[in-house]
Amino acid sequence: MRQPFIAGNWKMYKTMAEAESFAQLFRSYKRKEGVKVAICAPFTDLPVLKRAFSYSGIMTGAQNVHFEDRGAYTGEVSLPMLKELGVECCVVGHSERRAYFGETDETVNKKLLKLLSGSQITPILCVGERLEEREAGRQTEVVAAQIEKDFAGMTEDQAVRTVIAYEPIWAIGTGKTATPDQAEEMCAFIRKKIGELFGQETADQIIIQYGGSVKPANVKEIMAQPDIDGALVGGASLDPEKFLEIVNF
Ligand code: PGA
Repeated sequence: MRQPFIAGNWKMYKTMAEAESFAQLFRSYKRKEGVKVAICAPFTDLPVLKRAFSYSGIMTGAQNVHFEDRGAYTGEVSLPMLKELGVECCVVGHSERRAYFGETDETVNKKLLKLLSGSQITPILCVGERLEEREAGRQTEVVAAQIEKDFAGMTEDQAVRTVIAYEPIWAIGTGKTATPDQAEEMCAFIRKKIGELFGQETADQIIIQYGGSVKPANVKEIMAQPDIDGALVGGASLDPEKFLEIVNF
């Protein structure tokens, strides 16, 4: 049985004070049982969220990590630093990092291996095709190549601990959601690909989220798809009431 997992991705939104007021409100709400919930926030918000979410069952996540433990990497944050904070998950390879900050499948792979071999932190790996690639009918080819490169060198145990977020780039922040059929088709394809690489048992257990304009109005239909186990939610995770409606799908 795969447990539903809904994660918010705050991107570069919310100061510490804003994070604090979100967290105090959000933790006071009644949430449906059996759904894992996380907020992946800017680094400065992480200590605030860790404290504010203590004993609430709500997890705190980072949005990036460096693949070295220390060194001359101005502006970067390492795994030992995240471990000290006690974060439970970490987004890796978000399309915005791939597009604007030079993230490649090679660096994504190094970061995943770092998290999986050096900590119990759950990586949330983002994959997904661009609009031109979808229009050219190349979405499965593009995502298959990402999965192969991003999972390179992993053991089955490491693969199964990785959460995959399928995020078609054309659906991120655009209000344009993939139809539930399109999202399911790709998530089923990703599961099949994981099966080819790591065996059926891993494929049956791995958690696959959909991301891209998930909101209260469409979450139910998305979560009803057999190969979609959760959602990575950007814009709609910034508002505590909207995010509550989503996690209570
Ligand atoms: P969105 O972002 O929900 O605002 O489309 C999703 C994401 O980038 O993870």
